[in-house]
Amino acid sequence: MNMFKANREEMLENIEENSIVVLFSGNPPHKSADAFYLYWPERNFYYLTGMTEPNQIFTLYKYGNKIKETLWVIEREAQEAKWIGDVIHKDEASLISEIDDVRNIHGFTKFMDMILLNGDMEYIYAGFDRRSKNMGQSLEEKFAKDLLEKYPYLKVKNINPIVHRLRMIKKPFEVDLLRKAISITNEGVRSILKNLKPNTFENEMEAHFDFVLKKNNVKWHAFNTIAAGGKNAATLHYEENCKKLNDGDMVLFDLGAQWNQYNADISRTFPVNGKFSQEQKDLYGLVLKANKEVIKSIKPGIPFSDLQKTARNVLFVGLKELGIIETEEELFQYYFHGVSHYLGLDTHDVGFRNVDLKPGMVFTVEPGLYFPEKNIGIRIEDDVIVAKDGCEVLSKEIPKEIDEIEKLMN
Ligand code: GLY
Ligand code: MN
Ligand code: MN
Repeated sequence: MNMFKANREEMLENIEENSIVVLFSGNPPHKSADAFYLYWPERNFYYLTGMTEPNQIFTLYKYGNKIKETLWVIEREAQEAKWIGDVIHKDEASLISEIDDVRNIHGFTKFMDMILLNGDMEYIYAGFDRRSKNMGQSLEEKFAKDLLEKYPYLKVKNINPIVHRLRMIKKPFEVDLLRKAISITNEGVRSILKNLKPNTFENEMEAHFDFVLKKNNVKWHAFNTIAAGGKNAATLHYEENCKKLNDGDMVLFDLGAQWNQYNADISRTFPVNGKFSQEQKDLYGLVLKANKEVIKSIKPGIPFSDLQKTARNVLFVGLKELGIIETEEELFQYYFHGVSHYLGLDTHDVGFRNVDLKPGMVFTVEPGLYFPEKNIGIRIEDDVIVAKDGCEVLSKEIPKEIDEIEKLMN
C-alpha cells in the first residue's frame, strides 16, 4: 500500500457513517492577461491522492458497509494538448493514487445527485480554511453553499482538522523527501559560503543558492528567499534582496528548497568578511546556544509550548549577562517571534500546538536576536524530527558553528 492510500485509510477511521468527503485539487489564481500564478496542489488533496494537477476532485463515501473512492480528472483533446501540454491519464492517476475508480470530471455533478437524492446520506465533508473574514469565497465554500440549497438536511463538516492531525506525524516516505529538500538546501548554503565576501550583493548570493536548486531539478522554493545584510536582517520578512553586503556586517539567509512538495526551511547568519567581530561572536554565540538548548530539550512527551520557553529563557539570561537587558519583558524588543513551527507539505505546516511532542513530528528550531541599531539580525534555524528518545537534526550538515563558518569562508 502506498502512502496516499494509507493516509486515506487513516482518514476513513475518523469520519462519520453515512458521509461523503469531497476534496478539490484547486486551480491557480489569475494574475494578468493570460498569465496565472504558480499552482501548488491543495495540500490535503495531495496527501490523500498523490495527484499534483489542478482541476481534479476526489470523493469518498462511507455508507453502511460500502466504501467508495473516486478520482475525477479532466481529459484533454489531442489538439489542446499540443498547445498547453497533456494532463495525467486515468491509468497513470490510478497507479499513483491506488484509486481504482478514476473518471472524467464531467460526471461529477450527476454522481453527487445520484448519491444524495435518496436522502440517506447525512454528512458532507470538505476542506474549509478561512484565514480572514475578508477573504473571497473559496471553491469549497461555494460548493457547500450550492449543495445545501439542494440538500438542506446535509450536515457540513470540515475535514481539515482530521487530515491535519494525521499530517503532524510524518511517514518514512515524507521524511525521505524532507531529507532531500534539506540536503539540496545544504548544497545551496555552502555555495553561498564559498562566494560570500564584502561588496557582493544580497541578490548575488541568492543567485548562487538558486543555481544549485535549478541544477538539482528543484521546481519551487519552499518560500521567498530572505538574503538580508546588516540592518535589513532585523526586518523579519525582508525580501527585497537587492543591497550591497558591507565589510564588517553580517548577512542573514532564510531559505529552502521544495522537493516533491516537501519543504526545507533553514536560516543561517554569516559574517560578510568571513570573520565574526567580538560583538557579533557574543550575540551569534547566544542565539546558537538557544538553538542548541532547545534541540537538546526535544523528546517525546514534552509540551510543544516548552520549546519557546526554553529559547526565551536562554536568550534572556544571555542578554542579561551581556548587560543588554535587565528584565524578561525587555527581551521582546530583541526576540519577537516563535521558535518553532511544523514543517512538511507547507513550510508553516499544519498541526496543533497545544500538544506534547510525539515521534515523527517535524518542526523548525529558529531562535533569533534583532538589533537594527547595531546593524545586526541573527537567526539560526534548523529542521528536526522527534525520535523515540530525543530528536534528530535533519539539517545537521548545514554549517552553524563559528569556527566552521570562518574556516569555510577563508
Ligand atoms: N522562512 C519562514 C520561517 O522561517 O518561518
Ligand atoms: Mn521557519
Ligand atoms: Mn525560515
